Amino acid sequence: MLSVVLVLSIASTAAAASAHAAGDPVAGRAAFARCASCHQVGPSARAGFGPQLYQVIGRKAGSTGDYKYSPAMANANFVWTEDKLRAFMKAPSEVVPGNRMRFWGIGSDRQIDDILAYLRSVK
Ligand code: HEC
Repeated sequence: MLSVVLVLSIASTAAAASAHAAGDPVAGRAAFARCASCHQVGPSARAGFGPQLYQVIGRKAGSTGDYKYSPAMANANFVWTEDKLRAFMKAPSEVVPGNRMRFWGIGSDRQIDDILAYLRSVK
């Protein structure tokens, strides 16, 4: 009996986790309002207070040509994967110590997944 309960609870956790990871681009667009005061996305996006984030997934950190990054971001030697972006949205200064983005971070995993879905969806 115990094992049945265990299997059931693992199965439902897995289902919840995958629904979660998918994210909702429409909700993500709304949630991106928190980023949009500093960041643009889309084919004609340009640097503003922060660098543009068009197709940022798979892009090298600190690499857009029209933005003057902090030394920390310019020298951050990695590519923005979804995992990196997820961690950065939670705690920017832990992922790139000394970077200049003044943002407390987002506590809600759902909102983070939604923002990622939105960023993915902007073609
Ligand atoms: C108050 C303005 C501000 C807000 C709000 C903000 N950012 Fe930023 N962001 C910046 C600045 C400034 C930088 C450049 C940091 C540096 O050069 O050290 C940056 C850098 C970034 C980068 C690195 C880009 C690259 O080209 O490597 C990503 C990714 C990013 N922000 C995502 C987000 C997301 C997602 C949100 C919303 C959840 C957000 N930011 C909210 C100002 C902001």
